[in-house]
Amino acid sequence: MSDTIPKFNYSLFRRVMSMVVPYKKVFILTAILTVVLAPLAVVRPKLLQVMVDDHVVPGDIHGMTMLACAIFGVLILEVVLRYFFLYHADWIGQAVIRDLRVKVFRHITGLNLSYFDKTPIGQSTTRTINDIEAINTIFSEGSITILADLLTLFAVVTMMFYTSWKLTMAVLLVFPLLIWGSIRFKESIRKSYEKVRTHIAAMNSFLQERITGMRIVQIFNAEGREAEKFRQINHDYTGANLRSVLAYAIFFPVVDIISALSLGLMVWFGARGVLSGDVTIGILVAFPLYISMLYRPIRMLADKFNTLQMGLIAAERVFKLLENDNKIANTGTLAPKKVRGAVDFEHVVFAYNDGEPVLKDVSFRIEPGQTLAIVGSTGSGKTTIINLLNRFYDIQSGCIKLDGHNLSEYELAALRGRIAVVLQDVFLFSGTVLENISLRDPNISEAEVIEAAKMIGAHQFIEKLPGGYYYQVMERGATLSMGQRQLISFVRALVFNPDVLILDEATSSIDPESESIIQFAIEKLIARRTSIIIAHRLSTIRHAHNILVLEKGVVKELGPHEKLLANEGGAYRALL
Ligand SMILES: Nc1ncnc2c1ncn2[C@@H]1O[C@H](COP(=O)(O)OP(=O)(O)O)[C@@H](O)[C@H]1O
Ligand SMILES: [Mg+2]
Repeated sequence: MSDTIPKFNYSLFRRVMSMVVPYKKVFILTAILTVVLAPLAVVRPKLLQVMVDDHVVPGDIHGMTMLACAIFGVLILEVVLRYFFLYHADWIGQAVIRDLRVKVFRHITGLNLSYFDKTPIGQSTTRTINDIEAINTIFSEGSITILADLLTLFAVVTMMFYTSWKLTMAVLLVFPLLIWGSIRFKESIRKSYEKVRTHIAAMNSFLQERITGMRIVQIFNAEGREAEKFRQINHDYTGANLRSVLAYAIFFPVVDIISALSLGLMVWFGARGVLSGDVTIGILVAFPLYISMLYRPIRMLADKFNTLQMGLIAAERVFKLLENDNKIANTGTLAPKKVRGAVDFEHVVFAYNDGEPVLKDVSFRIEPGQTLAIVGSTGSGKTTIINLLNRFYDIQSGCIKLDGHNLSEYELAALRGRIAVVLQDVFLFSGTVLENISLRDPNISEAEVIEAAKMIGAHQFIEKLPGGYYYQVMERGATLSMGQRQLISFVRALVFNPDVLILDEATSSIDPESESIIQFAIEKLIARRTSIIIAHRLSTIRHAHNILVLEKGVVKELGPHEKLLANEGGAYRALL
């Protein structure tokens, strides 16, 4: 993060403000309130002045009571209007960020997987939560309230000049001091804000990583070292916070001193004025009220302006994310309810990063309903083939066809809806087992889930869980065994009834006892549908119709088990 904040960016500000458009009415309401509240602020001191001069001094009790009532009435009106103003200024901010959060989340979920390959998780969550929260402050503290403060200041100063320009000059004598102090304060606060933000980000990512990797920390007895590291990070964070506290601790008393000076000067000149008949007693009573109205907002203005700038920086980051259109072009129109499942890879060349091809001229065909097993050492490109079939990435040359149509001719959701993938690393969300299987798809009933679970052989263990299908899975499914998670993911795949099924090393981490259950589950899954199985175990792959041996992104051998086995010195034999 850069240490300097750019000058106020008007086009960015305009863009933030354009998000208010759906809430035009409320915005106009607050704008009107802003304009009404500013002059209203000076009415009370003015009435007080009139009351003292025209009724108190001459001893007119009735007039005094009337005016006191009027002052009270204005006060009530002010309180009510201020309530509406504050509530709605904040309401707009909340409404805007509510919309924005959904928009950002939608955008993120639509991004190409390559975005996630290159972006830390923390960054995406920070954009959706913290940065958007900061945008709220543009509305609640930054824009309309700054304007309201400025208008009030303007009204107060105008009224002061109108009432007595001499006294106003006396009050404003110390103003340059105040402006100089405010600028110094604003700069110092801005710098410490930046530091606080940097430190909080460091602290967040440190914590996130250590908590996720707690097992490693404890296995290797690293608690002490990690605690020491954390102590250091925490120390720096506190230091940064204290620097900003220091700025406030200096600035606020300084403003108080300046305001007291102002008041003293005013009293001194005012008393002399009263004696010489230049100034009335009413003015002398009203002026301290004006002074308090002048200094309170000024004290906050420097701070609010910083908040506004911080909000704008956050907005810039969020907009940048929204402008990222790293998406798979979804221009296809084919959306079949079912496909036969003929898969063709024709001379496919693909690289995640330019110039580093991962697949080099890969060709194969899977007939509808047949099973292809892919074998090859780690990093040879097996998972990549799967990623391409799901169209998570677009290829550089060659073509991939499903039922004779290029993948790009299919509507993306329709294509992915026909293909299910079971991965080695099963991902479960926090929620019930049922939700984890149906992924809250309203088209999938509980009965269907149970039926699928019975078919796979997962029903027995799910039923034994406390709460059965309503058992709450903790984050990442940590309370279930690897085999249980695997079975749940198999049920998940089956219940979606895909036409093409892919198992990517889905059985590698299964204990021998569960193996027979899993083997049974796989047979159920792949029956009568096109499937691709990536596995190491001979028992899993030998029954496949064809076996593809991949090596460094090149197809070394392709054929049925017996044929490949017969090939003396072949790549398949070498693997076994
Ligand atoms: N998201 C990615 N971004 C960049 N390179 C990747 C990515 N995923 C995999 N790779 C690289 O592509 C190669 C093939 O990976 P992969 O298909 O996952 O291998 P396998 O599944 O056969 O173990 C590896 O060299 C790996 O480093
Ligand atoms: Mg892999």
